[in-house]
Amino acid sequence: MAKKRISDKMEKLLNTQMTREAYQAQVYLSYASWAEVNSFTGIANFLYGHMHEEREHMFKFLKYINDRGGAAKIEAIDAAPKNPKDIGDCLQKTLQHEIDNSKEIDKIVNLAHEEKDWATFNFAQWFVQEQIEEETLINSIIDKYNLASTNVDGNTSLYEMDRDLSDASQEAETPRDEAF
Ligand code: FEO
Repeated sequence: MAKKRISDKMEKLLNTQMTREAYQAQVYLSYASWAEVNSFTGIANFLYGHMHEEREHMFKFLKYINDRGGAAKIEAIDAAPKNPKDIGDCLQKTLQHEIDNSKEIDKIVNLAHEEKDWATFNFAQWFVQEQIEEETLINSIIDKYNLASTNVDGNTSLYEMDRDLSDASQEAETPRDEAF
């Protein structure tokens, strides 16, 4: 067992976030299944893909807690939210889940800073960057949806958007990635 190098308070907060990442996976899983049932196969594939990303995030927290001498606690995951009304609603709610999650990551950064726990501060930076990417990614899909749904040829545009999302990247470019 590793010597404990995180505070009890930090261990609790990291565990809460680990379970929250599992919840994020539940959200993507439920929205993906809803999209599939409603014949948006491409969007469903994209959301299923992102569900795996969220499970990886959960596992990163688990490993970090255990590696730093804490103990990851596998707890109940909240039920997924209600089905969205339509694709626009689905995307807006997905974005809001990501924004809410970014705020939770900020709590870890704030506590790490307060405790001068620079290892956790460094660990959390990966998630700060990841949240920027995820918000950017979902925002870009919302932009595409807005374009497609207001196009005069609405159904064809939505069909094409759905088809393109099927194998779309799960990563978004952020200013840090840009080459100048
Ligand atoms: Fe792991 Fe999309 O937050």
